[in-house]
Amino acid sequence: MTVISTSLAQALREARLVAVLTGAGVSAESGVPTFRDAQTGLWAKYDPHELATPAAFRRNPKLVWDWYAERRAKLAEVEPNPAHHALAELERRVPHFLLATQNVDGLHARAGSRNLVELHGNIARVKCSACGAIAGEWSEPASSEPPRCSKCNAFLRPDVVWFYELLPADAQIAAEKAAHECDVFIVAGTSGEVYPAAELPQRARRAGARVVEVNPEPTPLSAIAHDVLRGPAGVMLPALVRAAFG
Ligand code: OAD
Repeated sequence: MTVISTSLAQALREARLVAVLTGAGVSAESGVPTFRDAQTGLWAKYDPHELATPAAFRRNPKLVWDWYAERRAKLAEVEPNPAHHALAELERRVPHFLLATQNVDGLHARAGSRNLVELHGNIARVKCSACGAIAGEWSEPASSEPPRCSKCNAFLRPDVVWFYELLPADAQIAAEKAAHECDVFIVAGTSGEVYPAAELPQRARRAGARVVEVNPEPTPLSAIAHDVLRGPAGVMLPALVRAAFG
């Protein structure tokens, strides 16, 4: 039985604006690998500098394209889990809500989240690596080399944020605004190691919000959380919404 403090449940019930930051841990119970979990994380098996940087794509576009195509194909077999559904339910229960996710798996939208910003893009979408033209959703199997832009003939690439790249400005601005204005900030399933996303809960704390961390493990963000729900998001988030709204 998960115990949520009555003061946290009340704070959520009375909140005008709730902001949320999620990371790969929220999709872990859907079977989507995280990045930094010791044995199972993607960065435990692959070198991010070989696969998730602009230089890697320039060096070996087919290797990078195929790796994202493989991850995209696996996502076709997974479903949102109770953590995603709890956040979609929370959005329906509070007056104002914003969910900023670092995840590129599209599972929050599939669970019904609407006020959603994808800080690191979306793996289902591809864009031109040169002119930036969005080429839409992509599910074709990998061909001999990445497909080419119909406008400028450069290689298409996944529309995700790689290391050393800027976040989509509109998403970052919306997330920072919500962090400054929210009454409750929930940070779930993130190691808090990647910036600027990890700055959001700290901005919320400085602006006076009540910060809640949901993670089975301690992170650098645990120290700034008023409430720590030390367990899996698929258990803790439904318990939190139930405690606040029945
Ligand atoms: P990480 O893999 O760095 O962290 C995953 C976090 O989820 C860890 O703190 C785990 O303890 C926690 N976790 C694991 N299972 C969980 C569960 N069932 N419920 C809740 N939490 C759980 O993933 P992120 O923090 O999302 O960026 O990584 C941030 C960014 O680094 C990603 O967006 C990606 C990566 O490199 C880029 O690729 C640009």
